[in-house]
Amino acid sequence: MIKIQSLKLRLLLHLIFPLTSLVIVNSFISYYVTMHYVNTTYDNWLLDSVTSLAQEVKSKEGKVVFEVPPSALRIFQWDDIDRTFFKIESQQVGFIAGDKFISNSNIANKDFTLTSPAYFDSEIHHKKIRGVSIIITPKDTSDKVLVTVAETLNKRHNMVKHIIFAVIIPEILLILIIGLYMRFEIKRGLTPLYTLTQELSQRSPQDLTPISNTHVPSEIRILIHTMNNLLAKLRKTMVIQKAFIENAAHQLRTPLSGLKIQAERVLRLNNLQEMEPALIKIKNSVDQIAHLNSQLLMLAQSEAAIESNNKLLPIDLNHLVRETCIEWVPYALKHNIELSFDSPSMSIQIRGIETLFRELLNNLIDNAIRYSQQQSRVWITLEAIPQPILTIEDEGYGIPESELDKVFDRFYRISRNQQDGCGLGLAIVKEIADLHRIQVKMEQGKNSKGTKVSLIFNSSQRS
Ligand SMILES: Nc1ncnc2c1ncn2[C@@H]1O[C@H](COP(=O)(O)OP(=O)(O)OP(=O)(O)O)[C@@H](O)[C@H]1O
Ligand SMILES: [Mg+2]
Repeated sequence: MIKIQSLKLRLLLHLIFPLTSLVIVNSFISYYVTMHYVNTTYDNWLLDSVTSLAQEVKSKEGKVVFEVPPSALRIFQWDDIDRTFFKIESQQVGFIAGDKFISNSNIANKDFTLTSPAYFDSEIHHKKIRGVSIIITPKDTSDKVLVTVAETLNKRHNMVKHIIFAVIIPEILLILIIGLYMRFEIKRGLTPLYTLTQELSQRSPQDLTPISNTHVPSEIRILIHTMNNLLAKLRKTMVIQKAFIENAAHQLRTPLSGLKIQAERVLRLNNLQEMEPALIKIKNSVDQIAHLNSQLLMLAQSEAAIESNNKLLPIDLNHLVRETCIEWVPYALKHNIELSFDSPSMSIQIRGIETLFRELLNNLIDNAIRYSQQQSRVWITLEAIPQPILTIEDEGYGIPESELDKVFDRFYRISRNQQDGCGLGLAIVKEIADLHRIQVKMEQGKNSKGTKVSLIFNSSQRS
């Protein structure tokens, strides 16, 4: 089936099609109703004719006679559109006068038993005719006389034609007028849409100001309202993106300028031993840049995973956390920190993307170790009931109450906890947690010492 794309054409067709169907049905009804009334009228005239003719049937000496002068008969039969026929026959005499060939055999006249006028349809010389017969018994005779008058149907057909045309032509004209009017009105109604299209096509890509919704119909106002909402979101996203790029550039500036200074210093030195401190600083700067780069990539990866609706697969949370903790043990020992993991001895199944989930854990464990003093402890606990809850608790520097929410913002860092880092770790944690529909709770540790991060899994998240 052809799908009509044009709204204008579709509206027009939806209007014209039922209207045309209505006219066709109306024409059929008109035809049959008109036909009925025309037939009734002409049948009555035919009855008048047969009655007047019957009055001329007399009896003479007990015998039926029909004595009408030919000139009177010519007047009776005169008609410039139709031909009129008649026949007079009696029970005793048989054919008396008129047109012998009128065949009215379809009425029961032969036994002269008619009690009321009998109409019939027949043919004469291959032309359709309509006739009527009556039976009379002239005075002074016992003979029964059948008087028949018939005529061709030209007048009837002409009248039906005229009436039908008189009904249909105005209806067709009406449809044409309605169609033209609707075409004009639809075009006028759609003008605001054309204006909006033009306005949008002329806009510069930087122009995200709201579209004006004055002088537009309410239906289009809804569309403009939705577009303005979208533009507002785009404006917000662009501001965030601009700030993000500025922050990233700012984060790069420190290690890059350090890199430049140390490289210049190295160039001025001849002795490899003298170069060593500068080279160590160069390595640290490169490490910082590499770290920033990998954090930025991870953020982009988790954003992409959200947008692409990646499939969440079953993961054994217990096994995954245990493995990750083991990987972090050497780093913790290096910092003289005791890392412990406590969990029930059962597998805890959840649905997720394993690589992203590992990244989330890495960032949280990294923070717990990095922002703790030596000789302290980091506890990782996994509970299964009533829903899986994973807590990572340390007894380190802690986060002030007022900043507990802010640390999830991109590039947000707490000045007093000065350690290497670019402020993206918790933003990555938040993105991944949102993707897995995990609630992240950040609070101060026991006795307001250290930090406790809880990951509360949705019970429907279990696979
Ligand atoms: N367990 C914690 N104890 C104390 N402070 C923390 C802890 N976790 C995070 N913070 C503070 O929150 C800030 C943001 O943490 P986040 O992990 O987002 O960035 P980062 O660690 O500075 O850099 P990176 O992107 O390398 O992780 C950190 O700078 C730190 O000051
Ligand atoms: Mg971090």
